[in-house]
Amino acid sequence: MKEAQPRTIFLKDYQKPPFLIDETVLHFDLNEQGATVKSRLSVRRNPEAELTTSDLTLDGVDLELVSIAIDGVALSEGQYAVTEEGLKVIGVADTFLLECETLIKPQEITCLEGLYKSSSMFCTQCEAEGFRRITYYLDRPDVMSRFTTTITADKTLYPVLLSNGNEVERGDLESGRHFVRWEDPFRKPCYLFALVAGDLLNIDDQYVTASGRKVSLRMFVEPQNKDKCEHALSSLKASMKWDEDVYGREYDLDIFMIVAVDDFNMGAMENKGLNIFNSSCVLAKPDTATDSTYQRIEAIVAHEYFHNWSGNRVTCRDWFQLSLKEGFTVFRDAEFSADMNSRTVKRIEDVNLLRTAQFAEDSGPMSHPVRPSSFIEISNFYTLTIYEKGAEVVGMIHRLLGEELFRKGSDLYFERHDGQAVTTDDFVQAMQDASGKDLTQFKRWYDIAGTPVIDVDYQYDEQAQLFTLTLSQSCPSTEGDADEKPFHIPFTFALLDSNGCNIPLIQNDDAVFANAPTELVLDFVETEQTFKFQHIEKEPVPSLLRGFSAPVKVKNTFSRDQLLFLMMNETDGFNRWDAGQRLSADIIQSIAEDYMHGRALNVDARLVNAYRGLLVSKSIDKALLSKMLMLPTESYLIELADEANIEAIHHARNLVRDTLAEKLKIELLRCYQENTDVGAAYSADFNSIARRSLKNSALNILLSAGDSDALVLAEKQFVSATNMTDESAALIALVNSDFVSQRESALNTFYAKWKADPQVVEQWLSIQCTSAKSGTLEAVKRLMTHEAFDIKNPNKVRSVIGAFCNHNLINFHNLSGEGYQFLADNVIKLNKLNPQIASRLVTPLTRGKKFNQERQALMQAQLHRILSEENLSKDVYEVVSKSIK
Ligand code: TRP
Ligand code: ZN
Repeated sequence: MKEAQPRTIFLKDYQKPPFLIDETVLHFDLNEQGATVKSRLSVRRNPEAELTTSDLTLDGVDLELVSIAIDGVALSEGQYAVTEEGLKVIGVADTFLLECETLIKPQEITCLEGLYKSSSMFCTQCEAEGFRRITYYLDRPDVMSRFTTTITADKTLYPVLLSNGNEVERGDLESGRHFVRWEDPFRKPCYLFALVAGDLLNIDDQYVTASGRKVSLRMFVEPQNKDKCEHALSSLKASMKWDEDVYGREYDLDIFMIVAVDDFNMGAMENKGLNIFNSSCVLAKPDTATDSTYQRIEAIVAHEYFHNWSGNRVTCRDWFQLSLKEGFTVFRDAEFSADMNSRTVKRIEDVNLLRTAQFAEDSGPMSHPVRPSSFIEISNFYTLTIYEKGAEVVGMIHRLLGEELFRKGSDLYFERHDGQAVTTDDFVQAMQDASGKDLTQFKRWYDIAGTPVIDVDYQYDEQAQLFTLTLSQSCPSTEGDADEKPFHIPFTFALLDSNGCNIPLIQNDDAVFANAPTELVLDFVETEQTFKFQHIEKEPVPSLLRGFSAPVKVKNTFSRDQLLFLMMNETDGFNRWDAGQRLSADIIQSIAEDYMHGRALNVDARLVNAYRGLLVSKSIDKALLSKMLMLPTESYLIELADEANIEAIHHARNLVRDTLAEKLKIELLRCYQENTDVGAAYSADFNSIARRSLKNSALNILLSAGDSDALVLAEKQFVSATNMTDESAALIALVNSDFVSQRESALNTFYAKWKADPQVVEQWLSIQCTSAKSGTLEAVKRLMTHEAFDIKNPNKVRSVIGAFCNHNLINFHNLSGEGYQFLADNVIKLNKLNPQIASRLVTPLTRGKKFNQERQALMQAQLHRILSEENLSKDVYEVVSKSIK
């Protein structure tokens, strides 16, 4: 960064907006050379503003001002000033009409913010601060306005013209152009503004709300995608129904629109009445989309829909409050997915993500609280901490209050703050007021970064029939601080007898035995706290932090035998899976140790037996089993280590997998056969998904170990699969095997078959880039010159560069340092094209802490190289400068 360092924004500096905008009337003229935007803003001095200024300062980036007038009178030169960051109108009245005309160049935008072109269509992305790239405005979420938008464009090229709210007028204009006018009756911040123009076709559906209102549902796609809308529309209807049933929230406009675009920085965007989706998060049909894509679509459609209440009707006061809408909405979509599918599996997937990626973020250089206190670039704070930990925090409130009081709290929150821009404190206050539960200490979760660590100690006194549990907590980010205070942690707990049955939990002698609960949410509020349970007849096994009731690390106190017991007997599905993960991780870790010391390697036979037990079990739920069959990922093993040796971890994990393949071949083949359906129609229900997952895991384990019977099965599955889940699973198994010629021919066949479908090509790219076998850096670099690659398209960048650097760890971390250099080269390239993507991509280079000095030095060298670039974006500058030691 050669210029002055970018400015840091602080929460403590928040001030109410000095002006408000009651009405926003926009007029867009879309052309092939650019777009003209005329705005008419009804501006008024904010009576509540702390600070009064005579000037009006508006945000604006890369705008060409054509004209400006107040109350119909053009301003002369001394009455306004255009700056890098916007526009200042000098000496304004208390109320006035501001008219601006600006010229923008959507065709030249590669950062995919503001109004831009994606293939043949115009579309917008305004969150967080993209609206200022469209016109001069008070681009902040606490300025809410009623929008009327008129779009004019060539009728043949852009027959469809969309914006928020209801269509109120349309007509033809001269020289082949037409216009459509939209009115949004709800006040909203400008980050929820959207516009789409294109040659799209619509797939329509309808939903009747609980109160009997008819809502048109309309999905707009490019013509070739018309058969990929069904799943999103049915997910949408299920979400609308769920939000009525579970939160009592109905949709509030007569039309709800979804548009799919190919070039998009994130998954999707909740613009009022006009959600815009990344194609890869909304388009699906059985032969092109995998089960995990089906589930991702269901979750994201729900997420964006749920924002209509948690985000749009009640929005954020400022961007420090981002988790107010994101954490709450992720909690809502996770509950929805849990209700639609297997609750246990959903929990396992979410915790896996949290424990690997969010924990790593929380102990890395960009660590921040759920409500950050400062940032340089807000786009860098759309993080796992804001989204996933934020959802955990809401989930803890849910656990502490229980279903009923939580609902009372959310009702009060929506009622009290409808139409307002509020803070996370307002959310917690509503929960507290409705429930009567004191959440003062709980609020710490919003303000303190880092992952708390819980030490568990327990004793059983047979004589006294007393079980004593002692929990102590600490948090690495505040350890030793003078004001270090404990968190309020809901710690879900049970005791299991030797048959795996839950034991009644009696904390006071006067409790009635028969009514004693067998599971408790303990309020763990002290630094160290003891809980006693009476009338425990035999030594029990404790079941700790059931369902992962808080986003913390629990130090493992279990022996391998206890873990085996829990893996077979735990009644909490999540904990049962977790016991298996802990046991496998422990075994992989000791093999890795032996590997580093050149000792003989062997796999604890107890693990093989445990897996055999699972595979032959008649009673275990298949959805749970499908997750239990997956070994802990390399990322998770790295997260567990103090200093990770990636070669040792990779080798040890592969040895365990190969041993399972060898010792359990018969059971795995049987699992494959029993879960294979021939000729059945594809269904994305969770049972079918679990069975496909089981079958494909079995195939993968066997083929990775080089089993030749598995090769025959995989090749057969590859050519005869009738859905993308099975087809790509066979390809993945082949690509990760040592059967080189089969692998190459499968890759070629697959590409020839699917090259016209971008969503499938993305999978084809990432399968190659994540393969530890073929995924050498050279292959990745070659793919970047392939016709299928386009560095301007974020999905392609994620499928190639992102996949390699995040999921091909053995190759990315190669000691030559070439992987790090490759990433830095591309971050530098993308810094100019798309700063948001560049800044997200750089993450693996900021995770050096887990590796040895040599690798840390190599990573630091690349970070320094990036930082010395001229014209570094604020996005990349913030992440890289904070990561340099
Ligand atoms: N609000 C969006 C969501 O979570 C996130 C989002 C979409 C976004 N596109 C973005 C955030 C671009 C920053 C930049 O649903
Ligand atoms: Zn969101």
